[in-house]
Amino acid sequence: MGCARVFWVFGLLVLGLAGGAAAVLSGGARMCKFPAIYNFGDSNSDTGGRSAALLEVPPPNGETFFGKPSGRFCDGRLIIDLLAGELGLPYLNAYLDSIGTNFRHGANFATGGSSIRQGGYSPFHLDVQISQFMRFKSSTTTLYKQLSSNKGSRRLCEMNLPRPEDFSKALYTMDIGQNDLAYGFQHTTEEQVVASIPDILNQLSRAVQQLYKEGARFFWVHNTGPIGCLPYNVIYYPSKSGNLDRNGCVEPQNKVAQEFNRQLKDMVTQLRAKLQHATFTYVDVYSAKYALISNAKNQGFDDPLKFCCGSYDGYHVDCGKKVIVNGTIYGNPCEDPSRHISWDGIHYSQAANILVANHIFNGSLSNPPIPVAEACQSAKDV
Ligand SMILES: *[C@@H]1O[C@H](CO)[C@@H](O)[C@H](O)[C@H]1NC(C)=O
Ligand SMILES: *[C@@H]1O[C@H](CO)[C@@H](O)[C@H](O)[C@H]1NC(C)=O
Repeated sequence: MGCARVFWVFGLLVLGLAGGAAAVLSGGARMCKFPAIYNFGDSNSDTGGRSAALLEVPPPNGETFFGKPSGRFCDGRLIIDLLAGELGLPYLNAYLDSIGTNFRHGANFATGGSSIRQGGYSPFHLDVQISQFMRFKSSTTTLYKQLSSNKGSRRLCEMNLPRPEDFSKALYTMDIGQNDLAYGFQHTTEEQVVASIPDILNQLSRAVQQLYKEGARFFWVHNTGPIGCLPYNVIYYPSKSGNLDRNGCVEPQNKVAQEFNRQLKDMVTQLRAKLQHATFTYVDVYSAKYALISNAKNQGFDDPLKFCCGSYDGYHVDCGKKVIVNGTIYGNPCEDPSRHISWDGIHYSQAANILVANHIFNGSLSNPPIPVAEACQSAKDV
């Protein structure tokens, strides 16, 4: 019953918006009222894909916010969760998760370990995520049409399907590329990783154009973070003198990430020119994360190169496992995850994610510089 009423009210809302752009004026600011989010990426924004498809993320992941594992490599929420909250939408379910999911307001195709290019740490590289999206769109649209008759409308509501017209009003978010760099560092030289960037970004560009062909119009693109500041990378990088910066981060790796971001920003500029009806926001997550690491002490964090869960020094124990050697326990989580920027040596803690999110949602690190709730405006409008 309640379901039917909500559906009807929403129907009126959509009718009210139809015809014009998704933007509505609200207190001077142009709020976009995105009805859904479709996200593509890796573990930085995986809300359950890898857990559903491969191996479940173990406790104590999720302990701070969900009280149990939630498919996220984090003690709590990720930036994509906070972004959904900022837009007034529920947290995204993973497309690959078949249990208790609701796709009414979007779906998450991100999976831990994914890269833009094929190979690497996950079978769900970006092209696969785009294929999954296309199937999601076509099969939910077909089902929606079948059930739109009077007899089916109740079931339609219960099935929590996206509305077909929402695909062109949704926000398409991307945070991917870190694993292309990580895999490159592991198997090739830094010079080779730099040389591979144009090919990586060509594939990303093709993926965006494919989404555009499917009707996607509003893109929110995160650049890649300071990979050389991940405790894991600092520990496993063969130390060479002069390679660590003032924060103890691996400088040559951060330089590669910066080069990736420079070319990513160019790619976005080219796509803006090419895809006339699309809107792109390029978001400098790198600067938000690096600023946080530089100011760790002032913000009440411990040493930014320490982390809360798992162990890489002495014994390598992944977060969620522990080993006892001569009476010493390795791998136990810390007492207070909110004092750590890094949760498990690779992924940020919820406390860090909240600060990074606060920094990027208001548009101060975006191009064009507009808040996420207004990201349906094009650079020309600002
Ligand atoms: C554990 O104890 C054994 C025997 O005393 C010793 O050989 C070994 O090095 C110790 N290992 C560690 C990690 O302390
Ligand atoms: C955006 O948020 C950051 C972090 O909270 C703050 O330092 C900055 O001044 C804000 N910028 C604007 C334009 O509101």
